[in-house]
Amino acid sequence: MHTLLLVDDDPDVLATLTRSFRKGYKTLSANGGEEGIAFLNEHPIDLIICDQRMPNISGDQVLSHALQVQPDAIRILLTGYADVESLLTCVNDAHIYKYVTKPWDPAELSLSVVRALESLVLKRDLDTTRSQLETAYKDAVVMLCLAAEGKDQDTASHLYRVQHYTEALAIAMGVDNEEAAHMGLMSMLHDIGKLATPDAILKKPDKLTEEEWAIMREHPFNGVRILGNNPFYETAREISAGHHENYDGSGYPQGLIGDEIPLSARIVKIADVFDALTTQRPYKKPWTMETSLTHMESHEGIMFDPAIVEKLKKLFIDGTLTRIKEAF
Ligand SMILES: [Fe+2]
Ligand SMILES: [Fe+2]
Repeated sequence: MHTLLLVDDDPDVLATLTRSFRKGYKTLSANGGEEGIAFLNEHPIDLIICDQRMPNISGDQVLSHALQVQPDAIRILLTGYADVESLLTCVNDAHIYKYVTKPWDPAELSLSVVRALESLVLKRDLDTTRSQLETAYKDAVVMLCLAAEGKDQDTASHLYRVQHYTEALAIAMGVDNEEAAHMGLMSMLHDIGKLATPDAILKKPDKLTEEEWAIMREHPFNGVRILGNNPFYETAREISAGHHENYDGSGYPQGLIGDEIPLSARIVKIADVFDALTTQRPYKKPWTMETSLTHMESHEGIMFDPAIVEKLKKLFIDGTLTRIKEAF
């Protein structure tokens, strides 16, 4: 059952309103603005009908407060006079759904309430569905990566660290927070193309032959193929294709140079290598962050975008890299 908050300083009007919504709703009646605000602070409200002209706290103040504390709640203003200017303020400041002039037609008002609540239900359903969908495909990315992980020496914690290094570097490079978080998630897919690389090559303890290397070097484009053509995975395709490109053009598979390599791929390359250097691998002991940074600096402009290495150093100095490493 929906909860309606009715606010008016005139007891007769309040009684009339309460009576007309008695059936089918839970109603809360507030005698004036102060009480209206108190209700808004304490109870979840679906719709509020509020008088405009009240002593002390006016209707537009109550509705503006509603917008702050319960932005979802539908706001209807009851107005006894046609003061266009204050009405406009109310529409702009409190984003009201509708205003109704006194005296009102009860049937019309109750129809407005029904319609407004229908749209509220639709909006809430849509919000729930959208967030479920979002969680579902984020989970799918992680599931896919974890499934692929067994193929390679990469571990789940490597993927999570790369995710967070990537996100922090992207923000440092001026990418907005939401996009940076997406880039972080997509970075987990950087080696997904290795699903198509034979185990005999991936797990070979000895040095790879020239022929085997050639097959190994197919994983960036195999990743692009696996990631299909859904626009959601556009960044993941960029990252898969570009994470073995070198800044000076000496990388693979395309030999792209500098800015020809998408920013996401330039970032993930740095996040991936930094993590490989600073952690234990079957073939090496972990290096300290300082040694790793010095090593990477000596390769900037060759393998790495110097601007991103610069940001990596800043993130080391401010403790971000250590925080991420300790968290996973
Ligand atoms: Fe790779
Ligand atoms: Fe990796």
